[in-house]
Amino acid sequence: MIQNQTVNKNRSRPILLAPSILAADFARLGEQARQALEAGGDWLHIDIMDGHFVPNISMGPIVVEALRPLADKRGALLDVHLMIAEPERYLEAFMKAGADRLTVHVETTPDLPATIRKIQELGGRAGVTLKPSTPLETVIPVISAVDLVLVMSVEPGFGGQAYLPESTQRIATLRQMLDDRGAEAWLEVDGGVYLGNAAEIAGAGADVLVAGSSIFHGRGSIAQNVAAYREILAGV
Ligand code: DX5
Ligand code: ZN
Repeated sequence: MIQNQTVNKNRSRPILLAPSILAADFARLGEQARQALEAGGDWLHIDIMDGHFVPNISMGPIVVEALRPLADKRGALLDVHLMIAEPERYLEAFMKAGADRLTVHVETTPDLPATIRKIQELGGRAGVTLKPSTPLETVIPVISAVDLVLVMSVEPGFGGQAYLPESTQRIATLRQMLDDRGAEAWLEVDGGVYLGNAAEIAGAGADVLVAGSSIFHGRGSIAQNVAAYREILAGV
């Protein structure tokens, strides 16, 4: 079930909001995740970082498992972004923990189609993503097989970075690549999203906006920040 849909007149799909828990207060993670979902967040975005593929270390399957009951209660999806070397080794663990979607980086896996297939065989929705400097063409081999393509609009590894302005053109190009092929994948954008650029990003063709800092330590309360996104996305 997808809640709180914002359906644009010219789009066949709602624009979704995925609060990124990396920016939450981890001493109050459950409570803050609940607030973000109650206020209208659709998916919880969970960033997995291993200190190898990216310099930072974040969290593992245990956090996915802890959030699963909350997601079920709110009808939300757990959107897991794997910024880890050798993701094939951990797909099963994350699926067992309760992930709905697993997104892997093209830079991390030697056989991308096989990794995508593996996620799907395990019962998950599969996503593919790439660093800002990686050519968009690298996703073509799986563009019709995946459920989601994630455009990184910052260098992966840390929350709170500034949106790379060239990302808007990459979103528009990828939108065209998907549409040209009749591909059904969601187009998700992650990094430096805030209230000031949400309309631009959605207007370029994004279906899902990931937002961490701007929701969990933005100007208002978590609920107010989510509501402000909803208002902007309703007008796109
Ligand atoms: C960065 C992560 C993002 C991050 C976004 O590597 O993939 O999901 O949490 O955080 P903000 O919205 O603060 O840029
Ligand atoms: Zn992410």
